[in-house]
This record gives sequence, structure tokens and C-alpha cells, in this order.
Amino acid sequence: MKTQIFTTDRQDIAKAANIIKEGGIVAFPTETVYGLGANAMDADAVAKIYEAKGRPSDNPMIVHISRASDIGQLTRMLSPDIVAIIENFWPGPLTIIVKKRPEVPDKTTGGLDTVAVRMPDSKAALDLITFAGCPIAAPSANLSGSPSPTRAKDVVADMDGRIDGIIEGEDCRVGIESTVLDLTGDVPTILRPGIITAESIEAAIGKEVKYDESLTEDAKHIQLDPAAGVSESDFQPKSPGMKYKHYAPKAQMIVVEGERNKVKAEIERLKVLNERIGNKVGVILFEEKAFLEAAHNFFANLRDLDGEGVDLILAGALSDTDGVGFAVMNRMLKSAGYNIVRV
Ligand code: TXA
Ligand code: MG
Repeated sequence: MKTQIFTTDRQDIAKAANIIKEGGIVAFPTETVYGLGANAMDADAVAKIYEAKGRPSDNPMIVHISRASDIGQLTRMLSPDIVAIIENFWPGPLTIIVKKRPEVPDKTTGGLDTVAVRMPDSKAALDLITFAGCPIAAPSANLSGSPSPTRAKDVVADMDGRIDGIIEGEDCRVGIESTVLDLTGDVPTILRPGIITAESIEAAIGKEVKYDESLTEDAKHIQLDPAAGVSESDFQPKSPGMKYKHYAPKAQMIVVEGERNKVKAEIERLKVLNERIGNKVGVILFEEKAFLEAAHNFFANLRDLDGEGVDLILAGALSDTDGVGFAVMNRMLKSAGYNIVRV
């Protein structure tokens, strides 16, 4: 398949939108990561996304809209919480899970009776959706299992020849995917952490938000401060699980966590030992507390290190259990298959 390359000029976006209208698939920039879009209401078009990504077809997609009022095409009910969330965070990197209308195809929602919806904060994305005249279903525009693409060149690397078009825009401002918030149960629940934190959501809706259980497990892994009440013995590293093959770089990867100076020293020690046996080693060590910067760079760093052909990536854990750093750690731990060394 020949993949057409587009700029973010209006005429180009209009051409890309025509492809979507005609049932094709196009990658486009958002503020979080690049998405791979199709008409969300067209099951055949959505099926092409699964095929291009090599993604299991029971994995539901996020449906993107360009006006908040368009959520009415996807759900029949706006609760006060949903309204508060939309007013406070859209357009922006927050996806909400709501009950779906019957018109939304099962293919889009992986057979669930709920749908994930978000209004992205990116002019190119909003123009594309508006010109296409339909909600756009879009997962991240990477091959299934590899790091999410945050730069046009990352999309080209994974998708050239597999999809109809790519809109090449700026590097994504945020760099990790949107926060996913489930609003279908009694307690609003974060299913995937992002740069919009539980704390800011609680402030907007005036009630407690909880994390999905799988995430509280993650939090345990990065409870670095002994004063916070978690002792060494509470820490149970998960075995490098096939189950977690997600965002995985081609290289092997180890996350080193603990007090910062010790982390630096252990990374240096492991680097020397590995280089001595002929391994090429890459290091990811962000500035302390520079969580937004870490989010912006993390996936790009993984892809660059793979590009350099490193055998092993040593990454320093960020010490944050509920904020933006926690969202980055969620990706870092998955990338490393929960391969963690504690110092
Ligand atoms: O920032 C983002 O969210 C990016 C850009 C392109 O918008 N999109 C993205 O899509 O990350 P994807 O497909 O890689 O991740 C969608 C996540 C998955 O974890 C999926 O399981 C969850 O949202 N999800 C989608 N629909 C859901 C539903 N109805 N119920 C529960 N989880 C859902
Ligand atoms: Mg993804």
C-alpha cells in the first residue's frame, strides 16, 4: 500500500479527511501521542486499524471528537460528573469512559457496552475530525507492543506502507497517552494514568477518584520513601511477565529504583559490567522531579536507543506515587516487563 504523506496545512488535512470519509485510515498528531484514525461509526474502517497495528481486536479504541457537544452521537446520558470533567479538561489529555449508544459499532468498543471518548488539544487533530465530519476512532499509531509514537518519524517507521496516510505535524507536547477515567461506576476510576492527575480530577468533580487495582500494584513498586511506610519486605517484584509485553523496546530493559544517588551508582555499575562483556548500553535518567519533561521524552528516548542498536537500557525510576511521574512510571515498568532492581 502506498502511504500518502500530508502536512498540517488546511488543504492537506482536508485531503486526509477525505480518506477517512471514504473508509480509509490515517495517522495524525495529537497533543499526547500520534493516533491512527478511522471513522468510528464504520466497523469495516475500524477493522483496518487492528490489522495495520497487528492489534488484538478485543482491545477497545478511544473515539475522538472535535466539539464537546458531539459526545451526544456516542452516549445518551451526561451525568453531572461527566459535564464537570468536560468543562474542566476538554480539549485535553483526558479520556472518559461512558455508556455507549447502540449506533457505536462493537468493533470500535471491543464488544463493550461502554465507549472511550476524548477531545484532543491539537489543531491538526481537531481540523481532521471536523473536516471528516465523523467521530474518529484512534489508538496510538504504533505497531502493537512497541513504544507509542510521539514524532512524525516514529509513525513513518512503524506505519509506512501499512496505512493510507500520515499527517506529519509537530512532536507531541505531552508525550504519553491520555489519562483514562471510567465514569460508568459508582466511583470515578482511573484506568490509565496520564498528565491529568487524580488530584486535579478530584478538585474538578468534588469527590474522591480511585485508581484501578492494577495501578495500585504499580504504585507499590515505586513507593520509594521508607518514611511513607512501605518497607523493603513489602516490595515484591513481579517476574518479567509476558503478560506485560507493552511499549517494549527491542533492547532488554531494567528499571533501577531507590534513593537517587544509589540509583545513579547502580546504573553506572551495571553499565560498566555489561559493557565489559560487549553489550551496548543505553541509559535513561531524568532530572529529579522533572516529570513533565520525562513524560515528553520517555517514548522518544526508547525509540532513539533502539535506533542506536543498544542491547540493554538502564532506566532510573521516578519517585512519584500519584502524579505525572507515576504516569511515566506506569509506562516505564511496562516497557521493562516489570524487570526491576531495587537499591
Ligand atoms: O492519548 C491517547 O489516548 C492516544 C491518542 C491517540 O488519543 N490514544 C491511545 O489509544 O492511547 P490506545 O488505543 O493506545 O489506548 C486506549 C486505552 C486502552 O488502554 C484501552 O483498553 C482503553 O483505552 N479503553 C478504550 N475503550 C475502553 C472502554 N470502553 N473501557 C475501558 N477501557 C477502554
Ligand atoms: Mg497504545
